[in-house]
Amino acid sequence: VQVGRARRPRGAGLVSAARTSRERGATPRQPGNGPAEGPVRDTAVIRTAVFPVAGRGTRFLPATKASPKEMLPVVDKPLIQFAVEEALAAGARRLVFITGASKRAIEDHFDSDPELELMLEEQGKSDLLNQVRSVLPSYASCIYIRQPAPLGLGHAVLCAQPAVGAEPFFVHLADDLIRSDAACLLQMAQVYAAKRASILGVQVVPRNDTDKYGIVAVEADGSSTSRVRSIVEKPKPAQAPSNLAVVGRYVLSPAIFDHLEKIGQGTGGEIQLTDGIASLMREEAVYAHRFEGKRYDCGSKLGYLQATVEYALAHPQLG
Ligand code: G1P
Repeated sequence: VQVGRARRPRGAGLVSAARTSRERGATPRQPGNGPAEGPVRDTAVIRTAVFPVAGRGTRFLPATKASPKEMLPVVDKPLIQFAVEEALAAGARRLVFITGASKRAIEDHFDSDPELELMLEEQGKSDLLNQVRSVLPSYASCIYIRQPAPLGLGHAVLCAQPAVGAEPFFVHLADDLIRSDAACLLQMAQVYAAKRASILGVQVVPRNDTDKYGIVAVEADGSSTSRVRSIVEKPKPAQAPSNLAVVGRYVLSPAIFDHLEKIGQGTGGEIQLTDGIASLMREEAVYAHRFEGKRYDCGSKLGYLQATVEYALAHPQLG
């Protein structure tokens, strides 16, 4: 893992663990940037959020040929910025991006851009200048780790281990955009503080759609938080244990890494996060939480279009 300083003078760190190691100008590791800190920290606070962003977004080709699908805007904000804002609202300060080919724009988005800032300043466009400057607050650090091959979501999460260390962490899938009063990950963090166990964000989906999701069976069907009895990746409707689907928000215990290392290929020949969670459940409790909020599947054209229309209607200049 290389440690480097972003051009941003406001203190945001940039740690790059690129496969092809590029020297970014070595600087001593900042306190708080490492996975482990002093013994006094509040263990209920989750400090790290992992964003698996290596997928190529083939459903949006040709738009995603040279641009990351996570940079697709909903009105004027890219999906990955919604993701980061949600994680920051939940208390995360270390942002770990698991990247792949054609994802450079994500790094650029969260870096400072002195030329653009100078231009906006000279033009007196202070509103835009503030927007550009507040893309990433100075207290947040970005870490970029390259996933060497598309081996699945479980493998992507495993790639985050050196940056996460032995602490619980969030996983956020930017395709699943969730609009809510309290940020979805904040709701999950509150459940974590009460349970001190892994939490999966779940939602009821139509029976016919179970083969698009990780599906859970829970102990208490009616309650908003319930212990998970079983989890299976993308079951056919006839075989699905329920229609309660995991939708791209997780709080995971660091024990997940040992399980991800041991499990082999699952559905689609990939290392599945769902299989890692099923293995973890043999040793630790895992809970499902029905969060409050509306979720848009921005990995599909229709879901993305719906999000665009509904966010536009709520936009101060458009609605
Ligand atoms: C992934 C997970 C799946 C989860 C889904 C949520 O699937 O493998 O368990 O339910 O995200 O969006 P993908 O959408 O990458 O096929």
